[in-house]
Amino acid sequence: MRKKVIAANWKMNEDYPEGLALFTDVIKLIRDEVTGSQEVIVCPPFIHLHALVQLAKNHPQLSIGAQDAHQSQSGAFTGEVSAKMVRSTGAEYVILGHSERRHYFNETNELVAKKIDTALLNNLKIICCIGETKKEREAGQQFNVLERQLTEGLFHLDETQFAHLTIAYEPIWAIGTGVTATAAQAQEIHRFIRKKLSARYGDETADHTVILYGGSCNPKNAAELFSQKDIDGGLIGGASLKARDFVDIIKVCNFKGVLL
Ligand code: PGA
Repeated sequence: MRKKVIAANWKMNEDYPEGLALFTDVIKLIRDEVTGSQEVIVCPPFIHLHALVQLAKNHPQLSIGAQDAHQSQSGAFTGEVSAKMVRSTGAEYVILGHSERRHYFNETNELVAKKIDTALLNNLKIICCIGETKKEREAGQQFNVLERQLTEGLFHLDETQFAHLTIAYEPIWAIGTGVTATAAQAQEIHRFIRKKLSARYGDETADHTVILYGGSCNPKNAAELFSQKDIDGGLIGGASLKARDFVDIIKVCNFKGVLL
C-alpha cells in the first residue's frame, strides 16, 4: 500500500509571526485530532523553514519543504536560495516545477530537470508538479503535455534517483480558481501518469510512486478525489492557509488510509 501524503504549499503568504502562528495551530489540531500514518509536508516561504523544522521536531509524520531551489550549487545569483541551503535548515523536501514558477519565471522542463538533479545531490526529496493549461485541455493536448513534462523533466533519472520523487498533478486551470478537476478527470490523468512510470521504470516503481492531486482542493471535495485508486493525497494551496481546513483535509486522507 502506498503511503498517503498531504502537502501544504503556502506560496508567498504569511509573514514570520503569522507563519509561526499558523503552523502552531496546525500542529495542535493534528495532535488532538489526527491518528494514522499519513505524511504531512508543509512548504512555507524560505524564511520560515528553520523555525518550522524546529517546531515539527517531535512530530514524526510532519515534514518541512521549500517551494523552490536553484539549479546551481552556489554562486553569484542575487536573491536566490540553493538546495544545500534549504537542506541545511533541516527541511527534507522541495517543490519543483510548480506551474506558477513555470509561468511567471519561465521555468522550462529542461530547467526543472537541472533543479531536480541539484536537489537530489543535496539529499532533498522532491515534489515535482506537472499539469496542463486550460487551452491545452480544450485542445485535447493534456496527455501530450504531461508526457513531455515527464520525459523532459524527470525521465533522465535512474530508478534509485526516481525513488526520491513524489509527483503532483496540478491542472493549471484548477489552481486557485475554485474549479476542481472532477474525480474522474483527475483519476484518468493519475492512471495515465502511473502507466508512463511503469513503461519507464517498471510496475514496482510505478506502484510505489506517490501521485498527489492539486488544484482548489478543499475539505468538501477532498473525499471524492482521494477515494480514487491512483490519487494518493493532495498538494493544497489556498486551503492550507487555514489550519482548520488543512487539518480537515488531512483527516479525509487518513480516513482513506484506514479504509484500504
Ligand atoms: P490551490 O493551489 O489549492 O490554491 O488551488 C494548489 C497549488 O498551486 O499547489
